[in-house]
Amino acid sequence: MKNEHSDTLQRDADGLGIDAIHELSDHEFSRLSEFVKEQIGISLPAVKKTMLQARLQKRLRVLGMKNFREYVVYLFSTQGIENEIGEFINVVTTNKTDFFREPHHFDYLIKEAIPAMEREGLMRQHQLRAWSAAASYGHEAYTIGMVLSEYAETQARFGWSVLGTDISTRVLEHAVRGVYREEDVNVIPTRLKKKYLLKSKDPAKNAVKIVASLRERIEFRRMNLMDRDYGIDNKFEAIFCRNVIIYFDKPTQAEILTHLYHYLIPGGYLFLGHSESLNGIPLKLESVAPTIYRKHG
Ligand SMILES: C[S@@+](CC[C@H](N)C(=O)[O-])C[C@H]1O[C@@H](n2cnc3c(N)ncnc32)[C@H](O)[C@@H]1O
Repeated sequence: MKNEHSDTLQRDADGLGIDAIHELSDHEFSRLSEFVKEQIGISLPAVKKTMLQARLQKRLRVLGMKNFREYVVYLFSTQGIENEIGEFINVVTTNKTDFFREPHHFDYLIKEAIPAMEREGLMRQHQLRAWSAAASYGHEAYTIGMVLSEYAETQARFGWSVLGTDISTRVLEHAVRGVYREEDVNVIPTRLKKKYLLKSKDPAKNAVKIVASLRERIEFRRMNLMDRDYGIDNKFEAIFCRNVIIYFDKPTQAEILTHLYHYLIPGGYLFLGHSESLNGIPLKLESVAPTIYRKHG
């Protein structure tokens, strides 16, 4: 049945030169969604078909393909697996983020978590290693960097490092550059903006850049939370895994959180997104504040 939305899609498709008769079939959608679930962890229920179709149209245009059937065949071909999977992942993931998103987490880190770990002698050489495990465009990792850098100025021996990882190469490239629009940084307190952001010399550009001294201290790396081996040797005092497991079903959430749990030091902290929880996932983590958990020492 046609509705207003499919008409819009058809017009868009016409504009793109795509044969609009060929919408993503249920069979093609189920092949793609099975692949997404298996490889990335994200569940795509049937209601997401229109969304996926709309997002993939740009790829069809770039590749000069006329219908989704051609795209699906290509994606699963040897050449597609080599060249298109990364682009496909960029299209499928939702990357919404913000500086100082859920700010109570950063307050808790500075005022409660670090002092508790220091008091209990858990931080080796007073070093805090934080991991932003679904870093998106880098806002979260840079926010952690700013608050830790501020804290370090008040504590002589304190040191820190931040690792930001994500599955999408597109967002990671952006994170490494550290360039944002002026309106994106409005939420950053003015004092920190002055200290950690540089305005573009060209006012027409409406862009700011994270200062080199902060960028250099934060490492960004591609990593799939579904991987069996994360390729990370050290443990972390704080892991931020926020607003990503919400896209996964419960067994996948349990698998990933169990994996992340092993990367926390005893007494370390896990920060989840505002609508995520450990409910029903049997890990030795104590709830210490809303969406903040501490690993038993
Ligand atoms: C909505 S953003 C959340 C960003 C940030 N943590 C925040 O709370 O603002 C979710 C991010 O998770 C990433 N992601 C999705 N599936 C992933 C996976 N299997 N492994 C690693 N990152 C993944 C997406 O690419 C996206 O950038």
